Amino acid sequence: MDTTSRGLFVTATGTDVGKTYVSALILKQLREAGYDAGYYKAAISGIETDDHGAISSDASYVARVAGLDEPHERLVSYTYRTAVSPHLAARLEGNPVDLDVVQRDYDRARTRHELVLVEGSGGIVCPLRWDGKRRLMLEDVVLKLGLGTVVVADAGLGTLNALATTTLYLAQRGIACHGILLNNYEAGNPLHEDNRLMARELTGIPVIACIPPGAQDLDCSARYLASLFN
Ligand SMILES: Nc1ncnc2c1ncn2[C@@H]1O[C@H](COP(=O)(O)OP(=O)(O)OP(=O)(O)O)[C@@H](O)[C@H]1O
Ligand SMILES: [Mg+2]
Repeated sequence: MDTTSRGLFVTATGTDVGKTYVSALILKQLREAGYDAGYYKAAISGIETDDHGAISSDASYVARVAGLDEPHERLVSYTYRTAVSPHLAARLEGNPVDLDVVQRDYDRARTRHELVLVEGSGGIVCPLRWDGKRRLMLEDVVLKLGLGTVVVADAGLGTLNALATTTLYLAQRGIACHGILLNNYEAGNPLHEDNRLMARELTGIPVIACIPPGAQDLDCSARYLASLFN
């Protein structure tokens, strides 16, 4: 394995908050600036397959936007059709998450790329496997892979509570949080602008980017984004 390769885990204050959308923009920014940045996700629920067998998922979206030409199975270790938490999807469909497989596939991604962005599933509290053999939470993956994190949060109402609880949970588990990305941010909206300031005040963590609806780029440099990987 290339030991100089570095990783960053993207989590969020909840599911559907914008991890995939923002991950694609981070990778696009990095790759356009010349960084060899790749993507990995341990478990994806709710994948769809078209008539030709092509998979539509978070990974395929990120790969398309960021210009990553890699087969789906390299980007994701576990895929489930049912759009529920991986622990429940595995109970319904079989194929439960194995932490050693996740470590192996992440290490393979690190041999291929200088930087590897790892997208989480759901929010930070997410059971990946819960059966008679093993109880595995998402944070076990973050800790095992030795990753620091960034948190994607919505720019609007309720985000301060969600951010404070998410960042406290990370801290309680001993996981570093390097920054907050405020999604669906509208400049000029007093609530969004106050949330931007209060997010920093209440968590002590910098807001590294604000992403407007439909954004095609991030308002921070590739060099700064690359510095967040460890
Ligand atoms: N800034 C944005 N502008 C426009 N659409 C957005 C933006 N952010 C997110 N979306 C859309 O909102 C939906 C949810 O976003 P996304 O899939 O990125 O969430 P997620 O946190 O990755 O969800 P999951 O927990 O399922 O992985 C998607 O349809 C996405 O395209
Ligand atoms: Mg996603």
